[in-house]
Amino acid sequence: MGDAAWWQRGVIYQIYPRSFMDSDGDGVGDLPGILARLDHLTWLGVDALWLSPVHPSPMDDFGYDISDYTGVDPVFGTLDDLDRLVVAAHGRGLRVLLDWVPNHTSDRHPWFQASRASRDDPKRDWYIWRDPRPGGGPPTNWLRYVGDSAWRWDEPTGQYYYRVFLDSQPDLNWRNPQVQEAMFDTLRFWLARGIDGFRIDALVALVEDDRLRDNPPNPRYRPGEDFPYMRELSVWNIDRPETRELTARMRKVVDEVGDDRVLLAELGVPLEQTVAYYGGAGGGIQVPFNFELLSAAWDARGIAGYIDRYLAALPAGAWPNWVLGNHDSPRVASRLGPAQARVAAMLLLTLPGTPILYQGDELGLEDVPIPDEEALDPIARLVPGRGRDPERTPMPWDAGPGGGFTSGRPWLPLGEGNLARSVAAQRGDPASMLTLHRRLLRLRRRVPALVGGRYEPVEAAGDVLAFLRGDDDQRYLVALNLGPDPTRLAVPDPAAGGRVLVSTRPGRDGEAVGGVLELRGDEGVVVG
Ligand code: GLC
Ligand code: MG
Repeated sequence: MGDAAWWQRGVIYQIYPRSFMDSDGDGVGDLPGILARLDHLTWLGVDALWLSPVHPSPMDDFGYDISDYTGVDPVFGTLDDLDRLVVAAHGRGLRVLLDWVPNHTSDRHPWFQASRASRDDPKRDWYIWRDPRPGGGPPTNWLRYVGDSAWRWDEPTGQYYYRVFLDSQPDLNWRNPQVQEAMFDTLRFWLARGIDGFRIDALVALVEDDRLRDNPPNPRYRPGEDFPYMRELSVWNIDRPETRELTARMRKVVDEVGDDRVLLAELGVPLEQTVAYYGGAGGGIQVPFNFELLSAAWDARGIAGYIDRYLAALPAGAWPNWVLGNHDSPRVASRLGPAQARVAAMLLLTLPGTPILYQGDELGLEDVPIPDEEALDPIARLVPGRGRDPERTPMPWDAGPGGGFTSGRPWLPLGEGNLARSVAAQRGDPASMLTLHRRLLRLRRRVPALVGGRYEPVEAAGDVLAFLRGDDDQRYLVALNLGPDPTRLAVPDPAAGGRVLVSTRPGRDGEAVGGVLELRGDEGVVVG
């Protein structure tokens, strides 16, 4: 592990800036707020923070609709604030990653304004404009994310433009070399300011088929259950070979400044396609997000099987990663319940590879119910029941008004339940979710075997998921009970004689472990 990169050893913490800390009382989190709360991150023991977008934006998609890639939106502060945050974070040994949204801009970006103005504008070809099909109607049958046509008719110049997300998020034309260079320059801009890497948004949507072939229907589509775009198999507009080629060029741009910068990418495609993004000879994305834990049925055998398949599918030299929560998915504590959320945290932080932790999951925050009629997320209006406000509510820092998040009116409610889960309420409590995270993060730092050691599955039945981490000198047993009933596990030899280092349930530290390990309901333990 001596020569592992920081992003291999480290834990990446996702900050949703609107909801982390508000410094000026407008109810929306900002960069000075993050700066003021860096203590939390160092105390917790994470290694890097990835900020969801902070660039100028009309905020139709709360920052994922960017109108200037090299600025900072006034709601978050100034470029100076961001520079100050980077310096302060670096001073504490924390890396800073930005979100890079290359697939689409805001429709208020000057590039699109020019592109839209006339068919002859030099920027016309920076976006994807097409005539109707010969018989009329959209050029292809491709669906956008929310399930209707991905083509949007634009009256003034009488053509459709392509957009996979909102109307106000037109897709860039990545086949155009000028677009490529302009966007690579935005990476260079931030790298020169000391940014340690990027999380690439919606990477698989980057390039579309230039022959405009129609997608086939998806025979396995489950109406009501699946997202509406899944009616068809998006083979011609998602995850095209050209996108994978472009990632090699993104990587080159990042490597120009040194080999300690990192690219993470949001993909959301099946395992075999995900691992292809590592690229030949490791020249692609270092951390292509592995989203399995976001949606997997909470079933010990199923998860054990997935871990094996995932690790086996990794190309030589590829480093694994695990994502348990983000700003687009229901909170883990709401999906699994508070007791199993603790087990899930232990899993996240003991699996081989880089864990990605979403702000507030260390507190066990739950979704705050927000009815679709009151939702701010536009997705709630386009796909009822799928709004993402519930997992984006502000961090509760203490019991004060505004939960210590804001002196004003928070842009989303903090939620009564989550107010009781504040940082202040949990910090001194040895049994809290927050303390559990801190202990696991400390254990990772102390025990390199948990980070870089081998992974060996341990035979288990029923609700038990168990594995060994380590090398020949020292091995650690991780045993997780994914069910509510007490159970037991036959301890494989190398771990027998160890002690409980951490349990997800209080009252067991230091307990000697023999040949049989008793697990209480909803209990996970690390033995070493
Ligand atoms: C990604 C982001 C999501 C955003 C979408 C469009 O999926 O995570 O929040 O809405 O891209 O940019
Ligand atoms: Mg695209």
